[in-house]
Amino acid sequence: MCGIVGYIGPENATQILIDGLRKLEYRGYDSAGVAILTGSEIQVARREGKLDRLADALKAEPLYGKLGIGHTRWATHGAPSDINAHPHSDCSGHFAVVHNGIIENYLPLRERLQANGHTFVSETDTEVVAHLIEEHYHGDLYAAVRAALCEVVGSYAIVAVCSDNPDTMVAARQHSPLILGHGDGEHFVASDVPAVLAHTRRVTYLKNGEIAAITRAGARVFNIQDGAEVATEETIVAWDAAAAEKGGYKHFMLKEINEQPTALAETLRGRFSDDRAGVRLPGFKLDAEGITRLNKVLIIACGTAYHAGFVGKYAIEKLARIPVEIDVASELRYRDPLIDDRTLAVVISQSGETADTLAGLREAKERGAHVLAVTNVVGSSVDREADSVLYTYAGPEIAVASTKAYTTQQMVMFLLALYLGEMRGTLPATERARYIAALQRLPEQMKTVVDIGPRVREFSRRFHGVHSMLYLGRGSNFPTALEGALKLKEISYIHAEGYAAGEMKHGPIALITPDCPTVALALPGGVYEKMLSNIKEVKARWGHVIAVGAEDDDELRKYADDVIPVPRTEELFSPVLAVVPLQLLAYYCADYLGLDVDQPRNLAKSVTVE
Ligand code: M6R
Repeated sequence: MCGIVGYIGPENATQILIDGLRKLEYRGYDSAGVAILTGSEIQVARREGKLDRLADALKAEPLYGKLGIGHTRWATHGAPSDINAHPHSDCSGHFAVVHNGIIENYLPLRERLQANGHTFVSETDTEVVAHLIEEHYHGDLYAAVRAALCEVVGSYAIVAVCSDNPDTMVAARQHSPLILGHGDGEHFVASDVPAVLAHTRRVTYLKNGEIAAITRAGARVFNIQDGAEVATEETIVAWDAAAAEKGGYKHFMLKEINEQPTALAETLRGRFSDDRAGVRLPGFKLDAEGITRLNKVLIIACGTAYHAGFVGKYAIEKLARIPVEIDVASELRYRDPLIDDRTLAVVISQSGETADTLAGLREAKERGAHVLAVTNVVGSSVDREADSVLYTYAGPEIAVASTKAYTTQQMVMFLLALYLGEMRGTLPATERARYIAALQRLPEQMKTVVDIGPRVREFSRRFHGVHSMLYLGRGSNFPTALEGALKLKEISYIHAEGYAAGEMKHGPIALITPDCPTVALALPGGVYEKMLSNIKEVKARWGHVIAVGAEDDDELRKYADDVIPVPRTEELFSPVLAVVPLQLLAYYCADYLGLDVDQPRNLAKSVTVE
């Protein structure tokens, strides 16, 4: 959580930092601040609330300088307020620090520093770092930051500046993401690539335990603990600046929903053999013998990524005939799981930085599993720490509510299921060909699904005033029900429950009234008839049913009040298409309610704390 940026170069830093923070607001948005070196002093501006409040304050009282740092916050220690907003300073005001992460030993450090005469003004853990740097400073900012961080336990991405060092910015990371961006005579630091894309596509991904001393001439990177210089690798990122803009849409979420046809096509690109008879996944490094030896797949993820994993479970069990366990990452780490060298652990994370998912990855690796990451972010922690990686290639996802990341994660899980089925000999060639053909049709079919936006908008107009909604699904669309309910809760704040439709009679049926609409996923397949029965049960209790079903299903229209049509595909793949009306329903409800769709309350895109 939290987004940080830094700039050193010939331009005025303030606007560059504000523009960069705008691209990072998805990481947290309860307060924001900048520190700018203006002449020989550091001036700090901080505001509780959205970034616009800070931007307005800086318009009224501009700060000019060619070196600066900025921060957009998601509170962990200390409520959102001007005082707790970053950057934080030491007693003298010579140093300013921005931080993403948690300093776990901040209390003993704070007590010691207070005993030494330091005065603290905020409730944050971060402020100790500024005072520690002050204690260790003897004219060399890099040395002081390094010495300070050697005392710190926890997770951090940090950038520090000092009024005595107008040509230096020091950045370091431990378990929180940080990249360096390289321009011509100017350098950037940021939590994520979109913050620098307007200026450069040349980036260096800092690794855990690394610290960078950055001047206008360039950056040198060292190991925090022993101070040894380390070699770095510059990457040219494929995303361009336009990919991180709204492109005429009212919200990023709507843009990202509409990008799904292209995103799905990107996910599939280059992943089939030349004759299109098989799936090719060069990023998956487990050899044929290792795949045959597997006795279990364990999927680890959080939130929407967990739902994508859940969809993947149905596909892998059906096509590769191997047991699949799935765990919410925050539960896995505390349950002493049965994992060994015959386990394939599949870790799914859009950002690749989710703290619980990373902890699950490490746990699985330690216990001997082969860890396969499914992620959207090249160079993320999950990417770097896994044994194998399959990218989703969804492009940057900015809205907090995940949409295109979800459907592309599902696509990767289908590719994996087909690949495992092929390698384990559980999927005859004819069936494989049928599934591959169906998979290849999905991007085109997705175009017709996103086009139903105006129709779904009409449902949202009618239902955005309700207090609660029920989402029912069975089989591989049970996770779709969970995801639909999560989307609605997350951005419209309408209470919603996702249920396996067969469970309805065991409790949730009591919720049904004319004022609590039910969204029923009734796609063609083995559980279709059962879903019709569940719909009838809801109708018998005067419930209103909005069904998602096949476009040519006249039977369904007899029972449901409203039907949202989606194209037919293989039952296993139907969750990719079926979720889109639910994404749109949530989006338009939130928009009708006048809510901040892209930045819902209390949330952040990337949950980098436990
Ligand atoms: O970056 P990750 O995929 O690891 O994020 C996992 C969840 O935090 C994320 O999917 C969250 O549930 C979304 N906000 C849901 O829309």
